[in-house]
Amino acid sequence: MDKAQQDALKKAAGIEAAKLIENGMIAGLGTGSTVRFLVDELGRRVKEEGLQFTGVTTSRRTQEQAEGYGIKIVDIDDVDHIDITIDGADEVDKNFNGIKGGGAALLWEKIVATNSNKIVWIVDESKVVDTIGKFPLPVEVIPFGAGHVIKKFEAKGYKPTLRLDADGKPVRTDENNYVVDLHLERIDHPQELAEDLITTVGVVEHGLFLNMVDKVIVGDPDGPRVLLNPNK
Ligand code: A5P
Repeated sequence: MDKAQQDALKKAAGIEAAKLIENGMIAGLGTGSTVRFLVDELGRRVKEEGLQFTGVTTSRRTQEQAEGYGIKIVDIDDVDHIDITIDGADEVDKNFNGIKGGGAALLWEKIVATNSNKIVWIVDESKVVDTIGKFPLPVEVIPFGAGHVIKKFEAKGYKPTLRLDADGKPVRTDENNYVVDLHLERIDHPQELAEDLITTVGVVEHGLFLNMVDKVIVGDPDGPRVLLNPNK
C-alpha cells in the first residue's frame, strides 16, 4: 500500500468516526495523521451542520487544529467526564491490545483515554496485526537519568533507541520528556512487559494500551469496518 492509498483509508475511518460526535458531547480528540482527518471532518460539521461540542485534546497539535475550526477546547480538569475519545493507533491485535505513541503523545492520550466513557480507535487496515511489537514501542522517560534507563532496557534485551528529531536532538513530548522506542519485533506477553516498564524508575508512561479500546474503525478498501471489543 502506498502513502496515498493509506491516507485514503485513514481519511475514510476518520470521516466515519466523526459521525459518533453528537451535539452537547464532551469528546476526547487524539493525535496523529488519522486524527487530523477526523478533526477536519468535525470542523466541516461545525461549519456546515452547526454541530456544537466541547473537546479535550491529547496534544497541543490537535488543540491548534481544532481551535482553527472554532471547536471549543477545554482543559481536562475543567470537565467531570469525557463521553467519548477518538484516537489513532500504531498497531492493534485481535485481543484489542494496541501500541500508541508513534506521534509522541502517548502520555496525554492515556490520561484522556482512562477518563473517557468510551474509546474508539481509527486505523487503516495495515495496523491490524496478529501480534503487536513490530512497531517500536514508545516509552516516555524523564530526561534526568534517561541514559541509565536506556542501559537497563539494553540489559533486558529491549533494544531501545532514544527518539531524535531532524536536527539530531531528543524529541520532547508535550510534558518535555524524552521518548525511548523499544525495537522488540513481537510482544508475546504485553501485561508483563507493561508491568515491568511502569515500575522502572524514570519511566512516566508506555505506549501499551491493553484492552482499553471499545471499538476500532478500520479503514478498508471495501469501506470502513467496525471491530467491537467483546470484553467491554
Ligand atoms: C500519537 O502519539 C499516536 O499514538 C498516534 O495516535 C498513532 O501514532 C497513530 O498515528 P497516525 O494516525 O499518524 O498513524
